[in-house]
Amino acid sequence: MLDVVNIRNDFQILKTGVIYLDSAASSLTPEPVIEKMLEFYRGYRANVERGIHRLSQKASDELLKARRKVQSLINAGSDSEIIFTKNTTEGINSVANGIEWNKGDKVVTTLLEHHSNLVVWQRAARRSGLKLELVQPDKEGLFNIGDFERAIDEKTRLVAVAHVSNVLGSLLPVKEITKIAHTRGAEVLVDAAQSVPHMPVDVRALGCDYLAFSGHKMLGPTGIGVLFVGEGLLKSLEPFCVGGGTIEEGGLEDYELGPSPARFEAGTPPIAEAIGLGGAVDYISKIGLGEIEKHERGLMEKMYSGLSGISNVEVYGPSDPKKRAGILSFNVEGMGPHDVAAILDNTAKIMVRSGQHCAMPLHTKLLNRPNGTVRASIYVYNTKEEIEKFIATVDEISRTLA
Ligand code: ALA
Repeated sequence: MLDVVNIRNDFQILKTGVIYLDSAASSLTPEPVIEKMLEFYRGYRANVERGIHRLSQKASDELLKARRKVQSLINAGSDSEIIFTKNTTEGINSVANGIEWNKGDKVVTTLLEHHSNLVVWQRAARRSGLKLELVQPDKEGLFNIGDFERAIDEKTRLVAVAHVSNVLGSLLPVKEITKIAHTRGAEVLVDAAQSVPHMPVDVRALGCDYLAFSGHKMLGPTGIGVLFVGEGLLKSLEPFCVGGGTIEEGGLEDYELGPSPARFEAGTPPIAEAIGLGGAVDYISKIGLGEIEKHERGLMEKMYSGLSGISNVEVYGPSDPKKRAGILSFNVEGMGPHDVAAILDNTAKIMVRSGQHCAMPLHTKLLNRPNGTVRASIYVYNTKEEIEKFIATVDEISRTLA
């Protein structure tokens, strides 16, 4: 079982008495990860792949180690498939801008996507004449696989789906979707921002072609993310940014791109952040993603039954705990989501997110809640007592209007 008391000791912010239920927006960072970055700044601060001297060699070695840690975390076939980005959004944009589209190509996505996996395709449709089709989930955010069977046709070039909804917490059947897509000749991109930090994710088992996630949601620093690109696509995907480090040969009029990952990482990369992400992978792996998933499931069951038991609170997402991750959105009848979030902070130091969580179509078309929702999201450092306090505080808030 996960030792939450010990884990909490690594997070200075928790010592201030806050109850942090906003990890889906950004997680906290433990001391060993901060230390890992400070080691770089204090001990071997230099550029990477650009120096013979020992500091540059050490920095390059540490960057490679971090890349290999990420490779092993998601079971990628080689470290050249791991491209460091700024965040999930940048990873998805890299794919949208890196594929050579033909007019009439189709992209299939869903109604519950984060804007990062929707607006990107809307823009590609506008610019390149793509056809976009949105598969619709049921009210709980769950899908009928037959709807993907119908939507993915021989014109479909890419299927881009979230692994876990950032609002409803619902799990998407990515493996099944990938199977269908591949039989029709389409590639698959997975927005794994809300899954990689919380559960074992294996790109080879999923069979996906691209997978993007962020460091800051998995105990790592901000400013670093990962785009996994399957080996077979590394040459055909055009880097959307070129420059220093990306080329093999450069002449006066032309250039030849080098191999991955360098071809996708123009300019000096976020070195400290990548090394910090490697530290976060170590931290998470030591606990075990299976243990993290189990811990969150236990807390989520408690949170779901507690909140759904309050008469004027409406909860969203799957009622079956096996079909959801540690994200729960809700509303208190007669109160705006921002008001509820402010009261939670002001009265009990509980941090949650409120609003539309960068998923407007989901709120307007699926939930019919244009003002948004309140969202509580859990992670490795949350406790049963915190969830109890959270439920009791929402209950009190809901009674102020009764
Ligand atoms: N993508 C993050 C969220 O859903 C910011 O809150």
